[in-house]
Amino acid sequence: MQRYSRIAIFLHWAIAALLAFQIAVGWALEDLGARGFALFQWHKSIGITILLLTLARIVVRYWKPRPAPVEGGWQGMLVKAVHAGLYGFMLGAPLTGWALVSTAKVKVPTLIFGVVPLPHLPLPMSANDPAFAAHSVLAWIGIALFALHVAGALRHHFLMHDGLLWRMMPARSPVMLAALPALIAGGFVLGRVILPTPAPKVAAAPAPVEEEAPAPVAEAVDTVVNAAAPTGADNAVAEEEPVGPPPVWAVQPGGSIGFSVGNGGETISGGFAQWTTKIAMDPDRPDSADIRVEIDLASASVGDSYQDGMLAGDEFFGVAAHPKAVFTAKGAKKTGANSYQAVGTLSLKGVSKPQSIRFTLSGAGKARKVAGSATIARASFGVGNGESSAGLDPKVAVHFGFRAKAE
Ligand code: HEM
Ligand code: HEM
Repeated sequence: MQRYSRIAIFLHWAIAALLAFQIAVGWALEDLGARGFALFQWHKSIGITILLLTLARIVVRYWKPRPAPVEGGWQGMLVKAVHAGLYGFMLGAPLTGWALVSTAKVKVPTLIFGVVPLPHLPLPMSANDPAFAAHSVLAWIGIALFALHVAGALRHHFLMHDGLLWRMMPARSPVMLAALPALIAGGFVLGRVILPTPAPKVAAAPAPVEEEAPAPVAEAVDTVVNAAAPTGADNAVAEEEPVGPPPVWAVQPGGSIGFSVGNGGETISGGFAQWTTKIAMDPDRPDSADIRVEIDLASASVGDSYQDGMLAGDEFFGVAAHPKAVFTAKGAKKTGANSYQAVGTLSLKGVSKPQSIRFTLSGAGKARKVAGSATIARASFGVGNGESSAGLDPKVAVHFGFRAKAE
């Protein structure tokens, strides 16, 4: 029995198992967003490995003798076409993935397995959408070809009893027969089991524990989650205090906290989908204000799941170790008829530093509109401390706006 060379056999099964892993991980990347950061690195590294193994395999194909085709005629042509299609998939999937990351809004240097830098392909940004579409559809084309390929191989081996499968196995052994195809299933299963667990639901987040002295109106403090789909959560517990403590403000759903930062001539803008506030403030006596804002950093998005993954990683927010940014301020100053400044503390990525915010109030009485901004010196919090941040401005502009109702 003639068989493929050992090296061809090794490459055949190794590439097949890695491809199954890639598809399993790839399908999860978009939904994982920020939590998929580490997986993006694996997906890119293994994808480029597949590209190199495939190139090696093509060299081996012409260098080492191969068994003669088992079929001629139209069936032989079909086999040839499916094999050519499979080679196209093995090359096309990594190349379109590479094109995809090379044309992303923010050019992130890729380090293969954290070591070898991958240059960006010189492609225009307009290639991003077609590259994504091709990358996505190629997985399905690959699956369809795989189904045809396996059906053909099984037909020969088990119906025509020509022992075709042995040609792609290093020995005639039932263990190989079971183990080598099982590697492909194993690759897929591994790609699923290493996915991070689903994000905890924050809709009913309990009020965070304060480490400072309890606020005087702790019972009346309101927590609103500004989720993408507001639920009209107006669940504040009102407390009728005639005079004394400043009124407590319930932030209404629909507010936003956004950020923007210059990056080599362009501006990257994004926002946080999840944040909570506890605000007690009398607009006429701002010195008694008590403000606390907690931002769920994993909810940061610049509208691109790949870059959101970067944001969550250690180079930027490092959400695994420090999931929240917390701003607290006791007291604010009036700086104009409706404008204020509060100097408090920002805790971000394990660093706490003084931080000032400015805001204006519009409206009257118990319903106000708040609009404000802050400038954050990102480097002092260790945000953007790696290679991909080289072109990033040192100051990040944060802006916020929301409606608040006094209890
Ligand atoms: C080698 C074989 C590869 C396979 C089979 C593969 C497969 C996939 C699949 C099935 C997806 C999900 C697409 C979708 O959401 O419809 C995906 C996403 C992705 N792949 Fe690959 N991939 C490969 C290589 C690469 C390489 C080499 C890179 C980059 C260097 C890459 C970068 C990406 C990116 C950035 C995404 C996420 C796109 C997004 O959701 O925004 N892939 N991949
Ligand atoms: C359970 C899964 C699989 C089985 C049982 C299988 C079996 C085989 C067999 C028996 C051959 C030799 C055919 C012959 O001698 O004419 C072969 C060749 C080939 N297989 Fe697979 N295969 C599997 C999965 C895959 C996958 C996932 C890919 C690629 C994505 C792939 C790509 C190829 C290619 C390109 C060839 C042709 C090699 C050449 O002559 O250049 N196979 N396969």
